[in-house]
Amino acid sequence: FAIHYFVPLPMVTILGRAKINLTLDVLGLRDDGYHEIATVMQSLALADTLILTRQEEEITLRVDLPGLEADERNLAHRAAALIQKECGLRGGVHIDITKRIPVAAGLAGGSADAAATLRGMNELYTLGLSDDELCALGAQLGSDIPFSLMGGTVLATGRGERLHRLADFPATVVLLAKPPVSVSTPWAYRSYDEHSSVFHPDNASFMDALEHGDRDRCVRLMANVLEPVTEAAHPVIADYRARMRAHGALCAMMSGSGPTMFGLFAEEQAAADAAEIFRKETDAAVHLTHTIGSDGEQQKSRRN
Ligand code: C5P
Repeated sequence: FAIHYFVPLPMVTILGRAKINLTLDVLGLRDDGYHEIATVMQSLALADTLILTRQEEEITLRVDLPGLEADERNLAHRAAALIQKECGLRGGVHIDITKRIPVAAGLAGGSADAAATLRGMNELYTLGLSDDELCALGAQLGSDIPFSLMGGTVLATGRGERLHRLADFPATVVLLAKPPVSVSTPWAYRSYDEHSSVFHPDNASFMDALEHGDRDRCVRLMANVLEPVTEAAHPVIADYRARMRAHGALCAMMSGSGPTMFGLFAEEQAAADAAEIFRKETDAAVHLTHTIGSDGEQQKSRRN
């Protein structure tokens, strides 16, 4: 009666989680036009939900957010097409995406959906692809996708696709505030090249602090070299940082190439109060969430 073992599932539901960058350093420009980076990435509870249903050959997509492309331009669609091609798979899929992660925000929302699609297709058609194989496929589509597949707290190097798992960042409440401006990632990296960079995060010390579960020291060492670049074009970044700090954030920083600002808070209530103020006083898209560990669950607080 092991027959069910060989019958692919008709449907899978899978989460695609948002990320923030706890540190982000750019080490140089590569021959392929990408930048060599070293960034500590962190998964958040905030997630899109994807429901994948088997169907004949075709790939179709429904996204609940008007204005977001639901065709071949969508990374989830491209992820399904890549699996079909690489695995010689005839079967198709309908992908239904409930978006919660702000779009074009520096939170890897598109990458999260692509990663969830790769994992979902692997399950849906019992393809037996390993995590390494899924990450290699993901890296073909976008630098953040391997991290989105892995989750937790991770040092990403290369163009972001080389991953090294770290100790989970101590459980922390996270306030996200995305101002109503658009930032293109290629623009941010290009502009970085034109800025003379003044500081770099100390990733080695950050990882040492992380190893000791010392959140306060981690927080003091957090920095993103793209933040001054994006801030120069969008002063709202500085405004949000000041507001978060004034309302009790342990630190306030930009994620990825922005424009989302995140604040880490020691207490849930302080974060909720700050969220309320952002909703009242700014045009930000506001989310209250928390860090997620490598097991996909909220980590128990560790005492420093
Ligand atoms: O890999 P992904 O498609 O997410 O990258 C989008 C763009 O961001 C790239 O085309 C490149 O301009 C820039 N980028 C970069 N260096 C990286 C990652 C992204 O220059 N490490």
